[in-house]
Amino acid sequence: GMPLRAAAERAHLKFGTAVNTTALAEDADYRRITGREFSSVTAENVMKWEVVEPQRGVYDWTAADQLIDFARAHGQSVRGHTLLWHNQLPAWLTQGVADGTIDSAELREILHDHIKTVVTHFKGKLYQWDVVNEVFNDDGTYRDSLWLQKLGPGYIADAFRWAREADPKVKLFFNDYNVEGVNAKSTAYYELAKQLKAQGVRVDGFGIQGHLSTQYGFPGDVGANLKRFADLGLQTAFTEVDVRIPLPADATKLATQADYYRGLLSACLGSTSCTSFTVWGFADQYSWVPDVFDGEGAACLYDESYRRKPAYEALRQEL
Ligand code: XIL
Repeated sequence: GMPLRAAAERAHLKFGTAVNTTALAEDADYRRITGREFSSVTAENVMKWEVVEPQRGVYDWTAADQLIDFARAHGQSVRGHTLLWHNQLPAWLTQGVADGTIDSAELREILHDHIKTVVTHFKGKLYQWDVVNEVFNDDGTYRDSLWLQKLGPGYIADAFRWAREADPKVKLFFNDYNVEGVNAKSTAYYELAKQLKAQGVRVDGFGIQGHLSTQYGFPGDVGANLKRFADLGLQTAFTEVDVRIPLPADATKLATQADYYRGLLSACLGSTSCTSFTVWGFADQYSWVPDVFDGEGAACLYDESYRRKPAYEALRQEL
């Protein structure tokens, strides 16, 4: 049958996956499917702060550049993930903040240097950047991270300004989970987007991770949520879709999983603002889910033996 990327192209949509660069190097089946099925790739880990700046001011682009080379060889676009997050920060930074050797003014400088250096390195090679990742709580208040504690909420506007200065063309995104539908958290992003716009800070897109669980139901209002961001002039994207199920998987649960995947893709296809649909890995044996969510797994489009699951067929049909 036609690969996902070819079917998506007819719908003017980029269809992406997160890539585990170790699997890409070592597993030929993984490599073949990554190249065949997807028109966009996101580094699952290797563009994160702890990987690219393991020592202060010392950058390591090796793994990220290898992914970019793979993408170029396979005619794929690359999403950048992520410039600023509260997780996977290097120890020199978290330690320095904790023991007071890095004060607020210095932290702000460190953030500026990091964003400027990373965005400049990848300039012209990416189509989207997740500038800030997971900055709100589910109730719509700001997440209590070291960034908020030391810099105040203005760090978000600064991050967008600094990224824009380094690459005026790449599309700059918010990115978070539990924001598929209209709720307190997605509304906080909506209000912040308006506020930044009024301040002259351009945000191009709203990234919806899309980590769902069949245990918690399918989010309501996804179409209405995409529409309100589109009305503000923002692109939208599904950036990290997976649908975990309580183990063991069975036919009923896999059918529900397929419905959830299809539901998100259908909302994306129904919105002119939705430019890409990315799954957070495609093969169950490499998924982050079992490590983080007790008793849940089987969240991807292929099982551990690279057999296509009903969710794969559902997405193919929907495109
Ligand atoms: C996860 C990766 O999949 C894991 O390999 C890593 O150990 C932790 O991070 N939201 C995000 C992603 O924005 O960066 C996370 O990726 C999953 C949740």
